[in-house]
Amino acid sequence: MAAMRDVSDSAEAGVSADEAFELARRHLVQPWPYAGLIGSESRGYIGKGDGVYIWDGEGRRLIDGPGGMWCVNVGHRCEELAAVMYDQAMELSYSSPWTTMSPPSAILAKRIAEHAPGDLDHVFYTTGGSSAVETALRFMHYYNNVRGRPEKKKILSRGAAYHGSTYLSASLNGRPRDHDWMDAASDLVVKLTAPNPFRRPAGVSAEGFADFLVDEFRDTVASVGAENIGAFIGEPVQASGGVIVPPKGYLPRIREICRDNDILYISDEVVTGFGRLGHVFASGEVFGLDPDMITFAKGVTSGYFPLGGVVISERMLVELRKSNHAAALFGHGYTYSSHPIGCAVALKNLDLLEGGILDHARRVAPHFEARLKTLEELPLVGQVRVAGLMAGIECVADRESNDPLQLDKEVGKRIDQHCYQLGLLVRPVINMCVMSPPLIISEAQIDEMVSILREGISRTQEDLRREGLWKERQ
Ligand SMILES: Cc1ncc(COP(=O)(O)O)c(C=O)c1O
Repeated sequence: MAAMRDVSDSAEAGVSADEAFELARRHLVQPWPYAGLIGSESRGYIGKGDGVYIWDGEGRRLIDGPGGMWCVNVGHRCEELAAVMYDQAMELSYSSPWTTMSPPSAILAKRIAEHAPGDLDHVFYTTGGSSAVETALRFMHYYNNVRGRPEKKKILSRGAAYHGSTYLSASLNGRPRDHDWMDAASDLVVKLTAPNPFRRPAGVSAEGFADFLVDEFRDTVASVGAENIGAFIGEPVQASGGVIVPPKGYLPRIREICRDNDILYISDEVVTGFGRLGHVFASGEVFGLDPDMITFAKGVTSGYFPLGGVVISERMLVELRKSNHAAALFGHGYTYSSHPIGCAVALKNLDLLEGGILDHARRVAPHFEARLKTLEELPLVGQVRVAGLMAGIECVADRESNDPLQLDKEVGKRIDQHCYQLGLLVRPVINMCVMSPPLIISEAQIDEMVSILREGISRTQEDLRREGLWKERQ
């Protein structure tokens, strides 16, 4: 586990916070910018991190509520990960996966396969989550071409999904605003209802919601034609869509329909993998699923090195090897596939997870849930959803209509601003805040996090009331 030390002795970046801010404003294009600010903004300065904490340019200490971005699982400033990065760079910094193989990539593939469900025994490495999803989709296309099913290419995805920012992976996204100004490979993607019980369609009961989703899935397969559908992709818990926990039993039922219709089931575990739900993979251990492919990234290196990958079923590879097209090339791969430094970091990260952090995450998860659930006492909070050490706090205009605060879509940002002043970084998503702190978080730190959230939400309630944007229903 990351040792806690005074961070004041760590190397300075060489420029002051103000200078870095100005350089960013002049030269940096940050991800997901708005046209009115593109290339001219600088976001909050973070200079240091240690354990569950990060420090801003004014030396303010903040709990890292989002854990970087669902990724700093073993915490910041982990000496073991820093050391292994240095050691591997001194041993072998890079070798081409086109023509060579380095030991860390092979050993890591074996260890990942041991954690994956069913016959998911093979790993193709990528550079992150989007490239992992892109790889799984291109692999599905290739697989069906080789099998003589060139029409079987469409992908079933869901509302509220987030699968990445490459063209094809982004085409699967289903969150509001994701496609407002962006093109997508719409001809390849069919969208289904988000499995969000809190926002289920009018007239559908809570008990009947899983049946509704399964019926919709079956009807879609029938209308699009199984012969045209190559894969379904789903996050076990939809993360960026607001920590949407699906109704019980729904995912295994979808898995069965996929199996019956020769549709590959891709479980996107970019967020849920590597400890977020207390296990290396949640698909099997939490949801009883045996997908055909699992995509992973983020927590695989606790965010210390950009690495991702796809775990692929043995069955599919055997089928390809036995096909009549031995020379069919899977023309896909990255310069940094199987990067030795990334794989070495991931191996050490896995040692740390297996060596106690997974146990710790499972042990504190009930406390995390119980404490966060108390926020539902606040009238602005419509629902708190928790799975393992991830949480989504959804604010509503009123509890009866569950209106997602149409008057102020930026309520998440307001909460974030208050929490920031109080010592907590929050990830705002429209009318929600999502949390995924480092898995090493203690019960006392969870208490601190929740009490800041409570105060931040209360102050936001007051602001909205004062500005006439929100009125508590009596
Ligand atoms: C479920 C899921 N899949 C894929 C991605 C894309 O990963 P990356 O940003 O590493 O490309 C994300 C990113 O948040 C994600 O949450």
